[in-house]
Amino acid sequence: MAELPAALGAAIDALMEGRQRGDLHARAGRISHAYRAGATSTGVVREAGDALAYAVSRLPATYAAVRHVLDRLVERCPDFAPASGLDVGAGPGTASWAMAEAFPTLSALTQVDCNRAFLDLARTLAADAVSTALRQPVQRLADLVGKAPLPQSDLVVLGYALAELAQPSQGEVVERLWAATAGALVIVEPGTPAGYQRILAARDVLIGLQAKILAPCPHQAPCPLVAPDWCHFAVRLSRSRDHMAAKAATLGYEDEKFSYLVAVRPALFKEANAGRILDRPETSKIAVAAKLCGTDGTVAVALVPRRQKPAYAAARRLRWGDELRLGRNAAEADASPEPDASPDCLD
Ligand SMILES: C[S@@+](CC[C@H](N)C(=O)[O-])C[C@H]1O[C@@H](n2cnc3c(N)ncnc32)[C@H](O)[C@@H]1O
Repeated sequence: MAELPAALGAAIDALMEGRQRGDLHARAGRISHAYRAGATSTGVVREAGDALAYAVSRLPATYAAVRHVLDRLVERCPDFAPASGLDVGAGPGTASWAMAEAFPTLSALTQVDCNRAFLDLARTLAADAVSTALRQPVQRLADLVGKAPLPQSDLVVLGYALAELAQPSQGEVVERLWAATAGALVIVEPGTPAGYQRILAARDVLIGLQAKILAPCPHQAPCPLVAPDWCHFAVRLSRSRDHMAAKAATLGYEDEKFSYLVAVRPALFKEANAGRILDRPETSKIAVAAKLCGTDGTVAVALVPRRQKPAYAAARRLRWGDELRLGRNAAEADASPEPDASPDCLD
């Protein structure tokens, strides 16, 4: 279960002290209604109270999704040690926290957003953060669609903001973000068919600019999924009392679905040697079955049979979004290999 960094949770709790839960609930409801209706933050987050309601009701989920994606980047590029970060459409600094947590090497951070209430909240929430970069970001109140220059940064994150840009500007903004990326560009969107379509369009733009796609795709080929299927992932996060109040929720957790893309400069790139699991693996007494996007650019169900005991035991621990390696030497992972060991096995 994903958790917020303790300091961020405590900073949100401190701002909630003495505030009416009814007011929080009303503001969070307006924000969520506006998002569902396709409106942008600008129209609905107008003042500090709205930004705080977003931080209570949406930030935990967007943080969990961005953190999950950055962990995939760390997995694929363990030696990547970004010094500078750029959080675009930063809101209350959600991705900034995820960057600082995933990459302690970060020493400078720029946050760009067109909403003053959000940027002010980002600064307040990070006032006591351990990371100096997080505590003292450079903030730019700017419209992404304008021509304002973006600082060259090792790591650039656009979290849940592409949807807020008018469709004709999205490709141009992705191009500008890539131009500002010295190492890795991460884009995260809601895990809806529409969010996936925006990710696909961004992927095309980036491949056209010679970017290398590091995740989730284990290949550079066109996406093999066919509508109505779409590539998305999920992360489970726990809810605080205020989070539950903001959403009038009864469960102590929620599942956030998201789509994403990590594109890197060629110097950081390594070919994937494992496929990506595209749904919750199903475990039966016979096998673990996982829908897998493979390194060859195709999607298939991979089976890890129970008779391959160590591989089966390992596969039972795999989750949606994890990597799964298939290979001819599956038997090496098996304490008692069968002579007819299937090639569709955990390596
Ligand atoms: C849904 S919020 C996401 C905030 C944060 N990244 C997160 O994941 O929680 C979208 C953010 O994008 C910002 N945004 C939308 N359009 C923008 C634009 N044209 N220029 C700059 N920021 C923009 C909004 O102000 C808002 O902070």
